[in-house]
Parts: sequence; structure tokens; C-alpha cells
Amino acid sequence: MSPEFEVKLEDIRPLTTHEFDQFRRLAYDTAGISLQTGKEQLVSARLSKKMRELRIRSYEEYYRFVTRDTTGQALITLIDALTTNHTSFFREAAHFEFLRTNILPALRGRERISIWCAASSTGEEPYSMVFSILDELGMEALPRLNILATDISTRVLAVAQRGAYTAERFRDFPPQQLRRYLLRGEGKWRDWYMVRKEIRAVVRFERLNLMDQFSHATPFPVIFCRNVMIYFDRQTQESLVNRLANVLEPGGHLFIGHAESLNGLKQPLQYVRPAIYIKPRPGSGILSKGFSRA
Ligand SMILES: C[S@@+](CC[C@H](N)C(=O)[O-])C[C@H]1O[C@@H](n2cnc3c(N)ncnc32)[C@H](O)[C@@H]1O
Repeated sequence: MSPEFEVKLEDIRPLTTHEFDQFRRLAYDTAGISLQTGKEQLVSARLSKKMRELRIRSYEEYYRFVTRDTTGQALITLIDALTTNHTSFFREAAHFEFLRTNILPALRGRERISIWCAASSTGEEPYSMVFSILDELGMEALPRLNILATDISTRVLAVAQRGAYTAERFRDFPPQQLRRYLLRGEGKWRDWYMVRKEIRAVVRFERLNLMDQFSHATPFPVIFCRNVMIYFDRQTQESLVNRLANVLEPGGHLFIGHAESLNGLKQPLQYVRPAIYIKPRPGSGILSKGFSRA
């Protein structure tokens, strides 16, 4: 960029309370993201980076740019800037262990094993699910797997779909897992690995905003919805958990992030262990936490 067009940080007019409120409303109404008062500095720092790239000097102009963009891309970039896409393979590893040892034995006889990974970011989470399942059931289970991975951000979904990651992301993988599930890059891809095509083929990546209504033909036995509810207020969390419970089969499990909790929310799921909840089967005897039939 030639220097005369460059927008420096000091060229950007400070964020006013009115502008902060506008972005706050936009993030809440479109993605459920709740920005508390006090987050002004964080918002201005995150947005000013985007504004410099776009050579926009005022938050007001940036707000207009985002709300007038009919492609929706500018809004996605804004949401991306306000949230984090941070994720990793086998993040919160105890969940994958629970999936393997407590849930898979009941699913192994099924014709189709369908799992929904909501807010899947760049793909490490759904691929970790597949690796865990294949570790347990063997490669012959692959044709029976049907993993739906969704996120609001088309940018992260594109990364996920490609399935290529720097070698450093697989630092803790045992060599046989690397060989079984990944291809090593060559030439300019030397420091990269790519998830094998047949594994990528069982993960369907789709854009889905968790604030929108969703339904699914057959309910899921497992849903991962981790580390996204932290951005939502209690009311939004409650509505989301109830809608997730509707697409969970009786006896099915919901996994949330370890920093998240369903405590105090009106919702039908029962606590199993940290960040794992189950949808009671009708007549299962799970009536209410701490109570049984009189
Ligand atoms: C911190 S990442 C969590 C990734 C992964 N679940 C994990 O735990 O490692 C949060 C993800 O939530 C997505 N997100 C934020 N708001 C969303 C919404 N309203 N609907 C769907 N996804 C959303 C972001 O794009 C981001 O990729």
C-alpha cells in the first residue's frame, strides 16, 4: 500500500459510546455475542485492525460498511474479530476419552454414527472426534461415520474443509496416529500435515449461526458445543441449550466447554460430569438432580 493511503492507528477517531452501542447491538442481534460495558477498549482495538486494512478512519463509517454489505462477509469478519477461533486437536482431552470409553460402546452396533460439532472453528475438534472413534472402532467404521461440523464463520470453515495444519499442531500425536490419519506435506508444504481425504469425507462442514432456528431429521446421540457459550448471555445460553436438547436423542450427551456451565439455566439436561450433560430417557428414573421416585 502506498504510504499516502495508509491509515495509521492515530488517524482513527476514538470509539464513542454511541458507536460502541451500535456494534454491541449488531453483534448481539446477529450472533448472540454479548459485549458488556467495559469492553470498549477491546472492541476498539480489535476493530481498528480491520479498519486499517480497509482504510476506514471512523467507527461510524466502518459500522455503515458492515451493515450495508449485502454479501454478509463484512459481518462475518466483524464477528471473527470480536470472538476467538482458538481451538486445538484433542482440546479438553477428557471429553474425547469419555466419548471413546463411555459412549462408543453403545453406538458401535449402529448403522450410522451421527455427531454434531457446533461451533467447530477450524476443524481440529471434529477431526479429533473422528480420530477417537477410529482409534476405538478401527478404520472399517469409517463409512458409518457422519459428522456434521458447523460454525458461523465461513473463513474458519474454509480452513477446516481444507484440513491442512502446520506440523506443530500435531506435536503430541503418537507416530501411528499420524501415519493412519494424516498425509505429510512435501516441497513448500514440508512443515504441514493434511487430514486424509477419506477422513475429511465423513465430516460435513456447513455454515450455521446458532442463533438461527435449526432442526435435524434424526436426533443426535452426541453434540459438542464447546467454548462458544462464553460469548452469550444467560438468556441466550438457556434458549440455545433448550434448542440443542430438542435435537439430542433421549440418552444422548451434550458436551460444553470446561469454562462453561449450565448451572441456573432452565433446561432439561442432567449433569454427568464436568461439562458433560445427558438428556434423560423417558422413565429413566433421572427425575431431578438429587431426587428419586418416592
Ligand atoms: C473459541 S472457538 C471454539 C472452537 C471449538 N468448539 C473448541 O472448543 O475448540 C468459538 C467458535 O464459535 C464460533 N461462533 C461464535 N458465535 C457463533 C454463533 N452465533 N453461531 C455459530 N458459531 C459461532 C466462532 O466463529 C468460533 O469459531
